[in-house]
Order: sequence, then structure tokens, then C-alpha cells
Amino acid sequence: MKFFLDTANLEQIRKAASWDVLDGVTTNPTLVAKEGREHRDLIEEIGRIVSGPISVETTSLDADGMVAEAGQFVDWAPNVVVKVPMTPEGLRAVATLKARGVRTNVTLVFTPMQALLAAKAGAYFVSPFAGRLDDIGHVGMDVVREAVEILRSYDYETQVLAASLRGPLHVLEAARVGVDIVTMPFATMEMMFKHPLTDQGIERFLADWRRLQDALKAKRTTNRS
Ligand code: E4P
Repeated sequence: MKFFLDTANLEQIRKAASWDVLDGVTTNPTLVAKEGREHRDLIEEIGRIVSGPISVETTSLDADGMVAEAGQFVDWAPNVVVKVPMTPEGLRAVATLKARGVRTNVTLVFTPMQALLAAKAGAYFVSPFAGRLDDIGHVGMDVVREAVEILRSYDYETQVLAASLRGPLHVLEAARVGVDIVTMPFATMEMMFKHPLTDQGIERFLADWRRLQDALKAKRTTNRS
């Protein structure tokens, strides 16, 4: 199972990369807009930090425009995966890009049928959005699970990338349904490391260790005198 970070923030990407659990990055226009920098500069910089796939999203609505944008993105970093929306035009772009050897991520997927269509078109990744479905009262993870089941039962090579995850429990559920990849906000990845008993345990082990060192030191001093 691969862990991607859902951000365009360089500081967060550097920090997660330093933990050695980061397999890739997903960005979108909203995340890029938060950084207030040129798209190209930002992606080039991310490419210097991360060697795994970096999803970069198109903003055109027609297939030709998406393909043209993709042509630029792949020059920014060798590991770019072009993100296109789940529309007929997006899937036309997927087929064209696949024929040119460019990997794609079909985004904004909210039903298993959309995931199946993306796989049929030849998407490299398909991104069902769990959190946004939860937000409107649906069980987002059901769509993720059904996408995994359907794509596996027909042996599609398309990888299911669980997206729009809002916390560690979403990551846990995605792991249990057997997704290939999860993409998560930095705060979620950070939270996954933490447990109060881990911190207390370290504190207690260190205190006991220090007590032993002090006792041994005192013993050595007594023996010498
Ligand atoms: C994934 O590729 C998307 O960028 C992302 O997961 C969307 O998440 P949100 O619903 O929290 O905006």
C-alpha cells in the first residue's frame, strides 16, 4: 500500500519525505492556489524532493486542451502523472495520453461506474473521493471498496487511489478495503504516527534508563574510593 501526500506545500512534502514513508504526491488547482506560486516552479520543486508519482491536474474542459497541458506538465518533472476530470472529454484525453506513454489519474470519481469507465479508458490511477461523499451523507468508503472489487475482478491494471481522506480512520478503512494507494493531508499522516502511550512509554523507558546510569555511576565512584 502506498502513501501519497495530498498537498502542494513544499515544507510539508519535505517533512513527510524525511520520514521515509512518502511514495508520491497529489495536487489539484485548489492546493496549488493556496501556495500562491507559479504552477511550473512548484511542480519542478516537488519533483526535486519526491521521486514517486506527482499528480498534476489539468484545468481545460476539452480533451485537446488537457492533452496540450499534459505536454507541458511532463516536461516539468519526469514523474508527473496527469490528472484529468471524470468526464467524457477527460477519458478521451486519458486514451490519447496512454497511447503517448503518459500516465493519468482520473479524479473527481464518486461512483464505482465512473471508476470502471476510467479503467476502461486506460487510466493509471483512479481517484474515488471518500470525504466529499461523506460530507453529503453518503458512505464514501463504499464507493472506494466497490471500485477495488470491480477493478480487481476484471484484472484492470488501473490502481485505486483513495482520495479526499479526512483522517487516520479513513486511511484505516481504505487499507481494509485493499486500495493500492491513499492520498492524505499532511496532518493525517502526522497523526498516524502518534499515540499517547507511545510517548508515555518512551518517557518511562528513558527515565528508567537514566536511573540505571545514575546508580551505576554512583557505584563506580564508591568502588574507586
Ligand atoms: C485528490 O487527488 C484530491 O486532490 C483530494 O484528495 C481532494 O480532497 P478534498 O475533498 O479534501 O478537497
